[in-house]
Amino acid sequence: MPSSLRCPVCRQQLISTDSGASCTSGHSFDRARQGYLNLLPSHKKRSANPGDSADMVQARTRFLDTNLYQAPASVLEQAVKNSTAGKTNPVVVDAGCGEGYYTARLANVLPNASIVGFDISKVAVQRCCHRSTNSTKTQWLVASVADIPLLDNSTDLIVSVFSRVDWQEFARLLKPGGQILILGPGPDHLLELRQAIYEDVRSYPEDKLLEKLPESFELTKKDTVSDELYVKGKQTIMDLLAMTPHFWHIKPAQREKLEQLEKLNCQLDMRLYTITYQSSGL
Ligand SMILES: C[S@@+](CC[C@H](N)C(=O)[O-])C[C@H]1O[C@@H](n2cnc3c(N)ncnc32)[C@H](O)[C@@H]1O
Ligand SMILES: [Zn+2]
Repeated sequence: MPSSLRCPVCRQQLISTDSGASCTSGHSFDRARQGYLNLLPSHKKRSANPGDSADMVQARTRFLDTNLYQAPASVLEQAVKNSTAGKTNPVVVDAGCGEGYYTARLANVLPNASIVGFDISKVAVQRCCHRSTNSTKTQWLVASVADIPLLDNSTDLIVSVFSRVDWQEFARLLKPGGQILILGPGPDHLLELRQAIYEDVRSYPEDKLLEKLPESFELTKKDTVSDELYVKGKQTIMDLLAMTPHFWHIKPAQREKLEQLEKLNCQLDMRLYTITYQSSGL
């Protein structure tokens, strides 16, 4: 376990124990049988089961395991290698890691890194544990991006894939010169899926994420990741829907229409932002 974990109650360092982890004030956290630590105190939860539900997690796993998202995964692998080049034992954190598809791939290409993957959804983190192999040991946590149970100035690289960004927490975690890799939608991401659902479809605004970029961060690089997706079969189309916010907004009639489709040709249009932390100026 990396020594950079901190107690979610008193914020002191957590030390590994036989059964999990504890701090010197006596707060202790048992390791679940699957291998993760739950560092999300119940009083900080807004609902009983925050984050993605079991059905959404299963859909994500089924979809990602088709490897239709091979292009962004490969681009991200290369980017994490570039960002950690020359570092002996970098600490790499996947914030909002979902069911661990990208985290596991990062662990494979960064054998000398200490990898932490966390998500607020317990069922997602339970799935993550299936993605670990002995050669790619990752510390999986149930935790929120709003209060990350890692020490200040402990992290070399934060990866955030279609997940919430908390600039203040990211600044607290990162070492000076540390980086964030953010993968998110470009203007025409999954355009044809949206057209199959809604009457009136517009492109997303480009670079919305950068509007709130604090001064202590600098955009170092921006890459476009694009591909043509040939999504075959009703199940895979509905799984793709479950990975998007449209899953929440879709009306029953729109859903029924989508369920009729046997195949969908669709654009993958993503942006990968490499952002460097300069100093604490938040
Ligand atoms: C769109 S999914 C992306 C998951 C993963 N990065 C991927 O691309 O496969 C967003 C994830 O953020 C998680 N999430 C939502 N709110 C969160 C929070 N406050 N802290 C940590 N994770 C959160 C959800 O449970 C979900 O797994
Ligand atoms: Zn404590």
